[in-house]
Amino acid sequence: MRAFSITAVAAALLVVAVPAQADEAAIEYRQHVLSSMGGHMQGLVKLLRQQVPHQSHMPVHVNGIATISQVVGDIFAAEAPGGDALDGIWENPDDFGSKVSALQEAAANLKAAMDSGDMGAFGGAVQGVGQACKGCHDNYRAE
Ligand code: HEC
Repeated sequence: MRAFSITAVAAALLVVAVPAQADEAAIEYRQHVLSSMGGHMQGLVKLLRQQVPHQSHMPVHVNGIATISQVVGDIFAAEAPGGDALDGIWENPDDFGSKVSALQEAAANLKAAMDSGDMGAFGGAVQGVGQACKGCHDNYRAE
């Protein structure tokens, strides 16, 4: 019964998924994903500056960034020009892919630094993530 009702819901959704809206949805979806990563990054900076008393939330933001970094390649995989995304993303897939990998490595490094408890390494790792964001934005995101 459960499998049947999921199929019915999927079929109902297919009826409303008009192809003309696919790109718009892809653009909005990737913006939602990236803005959630931006929220985690801003939250983390507030914690590091000790502007709020929620140090125990550190793993929420670090794990959020590390997890979201894993889908950044996927959200640009299908060519959907628009938003603030520059066409170079789909013209230079190898270079763009290297920016995605740089983010994933920086995010994994951030998580490792947090797990090690070495606050000096952690500060450097946060900067490393910031540089990975900027490294892609400078080339592939409209001002
Ligand atoms: C591999 C490239 C790449 C990396 C790495 C990257 N971004 Fe972006 N980001 C983009 C592109 C391209 C856009 C514009 C997307 C659009 O408008 O469709 C964007 C948009 C955004 C936005 C605006 C989303 C919106 O609501 O319009 C935020 C916030 C953001 N990025 C935060 C970050 C943060 C924080 C990092 C690092 C932790 C990061 N990004 C890493 C490519 C990247």
